[in-house]
Amino acid sequence: LAGGDSPRHIVSISDASLAWWDELYSLCRQIIQRPEVFSGACRGKLMASLFFEPSTRTKFSFQTAMLRLGGGVFGFENANDISAAKGESLADTIRMTATYSDVIVMRSPYEGAAKAASLYSEVPVINAGDGGHMHPTQTLSDLATIAQTRGGIGGITVGLCGDLKYGRTVHSLVTALAMFPDIKFVLISPNELAMPDYMLKFMRARDMVYDICGDLRDALPSLDVLYMTRAQTERAGGGAGLSDAFMLNAAKLQSAKSDLVIMHPLPRVNEISPDVDSDPRAKYFDQARFGMYIRMALLLKLTALGRSAPEAAAATGGSRCENAACVTRRELYLPPLKNADGSCAYCDTTKQLIIDS
Ligand code: NCD
Repeated sequence: LAGGDSPRHIVSISDASLAWWDELYSLCRQIIQRPEVFSGACRGKLMASLFFEPSTRTKFSFQTAMLRLGGGVFGFENANDISAAKGESLADTIRMTATYSDVIVMRSPYEGAAKAASLYSEVPVINAGDGGHMHPTQTLSDLATIAQTRGGIGGITVGLCGDLKYGRTVHSLVTALAMFPDIKFVLISPNELAMPDYMLKFMRARDMVYDICGDLRDALPSLDVLYMTRAQTERAGGGAGLSDAFMLNAAKLQSAKSDLVIMHPLPRVNEISPDVDSDPRAKYFDQARFGMYIRMALLLKLTALGRSAPEAAAATGGSRCENAACVTRRELYLPPLKNADGSCAYCDTTKQLIIDS
């Protein structure tokens, strides 16, 4: 969340402060308790919904959140329908959309695309998923689910299971949990879908404790929260799915704690057997509901910020990242932005950002 305590754009969860989260979550709880009080809170505001990559849950969640606040929604369903398909730059699509809207929600297959968009937007930009990189509002839903079901976040062991390489929800969740005390992780994945280096580096730099495990059965008894994910086959170039070692069913759950919280960002494919759905520990549908409420709180906060001049009105030479999925490989005018360690500030991979002379 760029901008510290009161972030203007929700690009990554990494700058979120606890104070900001506490405020957002407390607003979310007020909305859950008395939704009628907020039914006109965004009247006259418009949310632009730019989904350059398919989405059902996240898109519906944002749209219903805005409609329940009394605001309006416009956007496109299919990226082929818009001017980008005619060769328009992302910067121009965003400048144009910002003139019509009060907030932009955007999903892209390119890593760092929301960061890039935020540089050109007069209105707040929310990252609804950028390739295999980050998905900060899914994380807000995840945090709300943990907080609601356990009464707080902290002092827990979290198992992350499945595709930890391309699963952007996992990267955002780990980043966010760095703010909370005494969180341990068990990373449960096949070797070829292991947590990327830049995330392991992030965790080590913050002394976050993690174990690596090749079978969910071995990890289950120690977990307080189990975060299941599907294989992101669309990013792995149609790669393999997940084997039985990364699937959950009622029989395996017998060894788990009685107050385990089972989450999944959805859609599930076959990672969680339907025989788990009736178990009171299964929280993945509640998680989707909390997702709508926390997005209501977020839209309320961000649309109240109004307009301000975009950061990068004029580009000063382009840059290109070594990561083939990075937005800088497609939008060649983007200003060079590096993290302190020299890595690309758009996609955060440890790959270098090459500056065009
Ligand atoms: C996730 C996503 O889009 O990254 N889904 C979601 O936001 N509800 C997970 C996924 O697609 O597997």
